[in-house]
Amino acid sequence: MAELVRFGVAIEDTLLEQIDALVKLRGVTRSELLRDLARAEVTRAKIAQGVPAVASLTLVYDHHVRDLTERLTALQHELGEQVISSLHVHLDAARCLEVIIMRGRSDELSRIADRLLGIRGVTHGGVRIVEVAKSGAARKSPTSRDAHTHDDAPHDHAHDDVGKSPKRSKPRSRTRA
Ligand code: NI
Repeated sequence: MAELVRFGVAIEDTLLEQIDALVKLRGVTRSELLRDLARAEVTRAKIAQGVPAVASLTLVYDHHVRDLTERLTALQHELGEQVISSLHVHLDAARCLEVIIMRGRSDELSRIADRLLGIRGVTHGGVRIVEVAKSGAARKSPTSRDAHTHDDAPHDHAHDDVGKSPKRSKPRSRTRA
């Protein structure tokens, strides 16, 4: 269990006022808010450098755009094992929603996501990349067993992502044939 440490920070009074407004709005303490911000930034930096991660990529697209559906499918086939699962929902007559779950190095996942989000006809979307502890237990790779870096618990997930969405809607979905 981590210990709390106090330290002094110099900060512009105008910035502190803005922070305090946020503190009030969220009903937390200054320390809690600053800890959250620090954790989010530490996570963001690690993700940018490349750590084992999973990602959920959401795409909304117009399936009337020529070849788009085929391109998205072909890309996912190309990515092979990096794509763990995908969910396809026909939103309305023109639009499709696709959620793609991927696993791999965070920096690669980020590039893949940018590539998919940048395809013409993709109108909305976003990606959430979450670091996962290396241990990954029984995941095929025999080399993960003889490494000497087993200092984290077998199921140690990094769940400190920001912008948590409190409600999860469950759209009725059909998997694609
Ligand atoms: Ni569809």
